[in-house]
Amino acid sequence: MGSKDTILTILRQQQGHYISGEELSKRLQLSRTAVWKHIHRLREEGYQIEAQPNLGYCLQFVPDQLTAAELKNGLSTNCFGQVVHYFATVDSTNNVAKELAGNGAEEGTIVVAEEQQAGKGRRGRSWYSPAGTGISLSIILRPRLEPQDAPKFTLVAAVATARAITAATGVNAQIKWPNDLLINGRKCVGILTEMNAEIGCINYLVIGIGINVNLDASQLPPELQGQVTSLMSAAGRRISRVSLVQHLLSELEILYQQLQNGGFPAILDEWRSLTGMLGRQVRVTTLNEVIEGTVMDVNADGALILCRADGSLQTIMAGDVSVRGINGTYALF
Ligand code: BTN
Repeated sequence: MGSKDTILTILRQQQGHYISGEELSKRLQLSRTAVWKHIHRLREEGYQIEAQPNLGYCLQFVPDQLTAAELKNGLSTNCFGQVVHYFATVDSTNNVAKELAGNGAEEGTIVVAEEQQAGKGRRGRSWYSPAGTGISLSIILRPRLEPQDAPKFTLVAAVATARAITAATGVNAQIKWPNDLLINGRKCVGILTEMNAEIGCINYLVIGIGINVNLDASQLPPELQGQVTSLMSAAGRRISRVSLVQHLLSELEILYQQLQNGGFPAILDEWRSLTGMLGRQVRVTTLNEVIEGTVMDVNADGALILCRADGSLQTIMAGDVSVRGINGTYALF
């Protein structure tokens, strides 16, 4: 831990009480000027640190920023999120994570950004991620499973995210196949899994999770109005992004271990309980066709099972789903 982070840790431990500059410089074996410079840097990062002539320094306010120092403070995982790459702005956290993974970054390493300039969605779409309002997080995994098991990780990520949202906000999100999370029919979470594999072996997976957290509907571009929501809109209050990421990392780690230990059936059952799609009439747009039918299930490969009007069953590995409403039109949910 660097001196700046050590000073932050000590200030936190003071729990609102002052600590003198002299005491800090003694504990860190730094000059008083060096201590002051670190305090100045922390203030620039958004920490409010009160300075009183005879008392010293006191931490008054901690910003809700996804920095390594904040995310690791109170993080209960063994591996996930123990290495954090934080960016104020970046093109796409998935791109950075893939590069790190290609250079040997260890499993559980995460990349987080306050803002993405070119956030990527599924099927070549873009993901809107304005500064400071959401979570843009990518995690590097090196699972001991076959490449054909990759869709399972996306389902795991959706279940972990739904659990984390409920734990951190009290809001229940619904999963829409394959991996969107919706609240009141509007999208709140998107997940993009990218893989580097050889025959029979996954080199690495990057799971990218985007969550709209403290995003106000008025900030949305016109094409997203009415389709997208945020946790703040659903909960009626601002949500701590740091706490949400900590919940997410811990749920992901638990479910990832469960998956690797053969526990996928129970995870799939939970996925089913979190989706409102079973029995619904849907239209699925795949790369080369549009298929309509009733959702029967999601199978152990993460594929959607549809029953078509002629009674035949169709298994769909990838596609975009819209759901038939009572008036017969198809919508996001
Ligand atoms: C989708 O719904 O189409 C998937 C959206 C995935 C967005 C996340 S944000 C973090 C990570 N970095 C990216 O560029 N995309 C994913």
